[in-house]
Amino acid sequence: MNTSITKPPVQENINLSPYNTLRVEAKADQFITISEPSQLLAIYNKDFFKKYSPVILGGGSNVLIKSDLKQPVLKISIPGIEIIHERDKEILIKSGAGVTWHDFVSFCVEKGFGGIENLALIPGTVGAAPIQNIGAYGVELKDTFHSLKAFLPETGEERVFSINECDFGYRDSIFKKSLKGKVIITEVTLRLQKPPHTIEDSYYALQEYFQSNGIKSPTIKDVFNAVVEIRESKLPNPELIGNAGSFFKNPIVEVSVYQKLKQQYPSIPSFEAGAGKIKIPAGWLIEQAGWKGKKVGNVGTYKNQALVLVNHGGATGEEIYEHAMKIRESVKEKFGVELDPEVNVIS
Ligand code: FAD
Ligand code: EPU
Repeated sequence: MNTSITKPPVQENINLSPYNTLRVEAKADQFITISEPSQLLAIYNKDFFKKYSPVILGGGSNVLIKSDLKQPVLKISIPGIEIIHERDKEILIKSGAGVTWHDFVSFCVEKGFGGIENLALIPGTVGAAPIQNIGAYGVELKDTFHSLKAFLPETGEERVFSINECDFGYRDSIFKKSLKGKVIITEVTLRLQKPPHTIEDSYYALQEYFQSNGIKSPTIKDVFNAVVEIRESKLPNPELIGNAGSFFKNPIVEVSVYQKLKQQYPSIPSFEAGAGKIKIPAGWLIEQAGWKGKKVGNVGTYKNQALVLVNHGGATGEEIYEHAMKIRESVKEKFGVELDPEVNVIS
């Protein structure tokens, strides 16, 4: 018998409000904290994954829990950061899936490892970052991603995924498509830059920030500080007001669709999205449809960012979901554009 395999702790009838940033008060029948990969094998041995389809949870910052959960919740809390390879110009660094993403970014910036400073202050865990290929301020996870290690609940095996196997796209990966629910990420390895760093500062908000602060040649620390400051001014802190960041993805439309909208709404903002496609900010569409800062019951949209749905206190998952669908319908009616949720809806 393998004595190194330990069973994880199981708690029953747990209020999930501290474990999701929308602060929905749903309950989980069973809440299991995974602090090392071998614990997944320990529960696999008991046919656990064959009987149930557990909900995998990191920091709960991109989920909407619609109702109480009968299926067990696996909270991934695997720690540890390790430099695994160092060369003149780059390093490979791996992190346990449970490490807080922002702590990982801060660690890397402090050490002078460049590449993820634009992704500062994104809530959640390292293990969830590949699921939607997190992105902000001109950078996506895929730009520095090397590989990840995962546990496969169907076979009890471990598998390494290289970047080519992850099929990363805008807020998308294979883990949201054909491998949805079939992979539990246990560690992630990134390839980061040692000085001299390539600085990505083309995003309009960074340009504005550096111009108004008189910073001509920003360092990775300057980018980190700028991103933190911009984010704090625009986005609600989930510690103070329940939210899950952007509730919808920014829609990507054909150029012809955009051109028609532009004729009717000359101030519509847009971003190039490659090969005849244009990305339209959903926040703008939602604001124009009259929802910005509007409160209905316990739910609303944030006053500084219409794309962020907020729980003003006591909102149920169902209530937030219904509100989101109303916003979706009204945007469709006004602009003919379909909004797809970015947030993962769990029921
Ligand atoms: P969770 O919410 O716990 O889970 C998200 C999904 O990943 C779920 O489907 C879950 O089942 C799955 N999952 C989680 N961990 C694992 C694992 N180890 N293995 C397999 N599946 C797993 N996102 C951006 O991309 N850019 C932003 O700028 C951004 N800003 C945000 C700002 C705020 C204020 C908030 C609240 C959210 C923001 N987000 C942003 C969304 C969110 O922070 C990211 O999607 C983050 O990666 C989610 O991490 P998490 O650990 O909280 O994942
Ligand atoms: N806008 C409005 N009204 C609003 C909000 C935005 O008109 O209420 C307009 C802005 O004026 C700007 C444009 O929309 O012209 C873009 O706004 P912003 O820079 O705030 O970015 P976003 O497109 O709303 C995206 C991501 C964020 C990410 C930022 C910065 C998506 C769905 N959202 O937001 O990610 O932090 O860019 O890169 O792609 C998240 O995924 O949870 C998230 C917060």
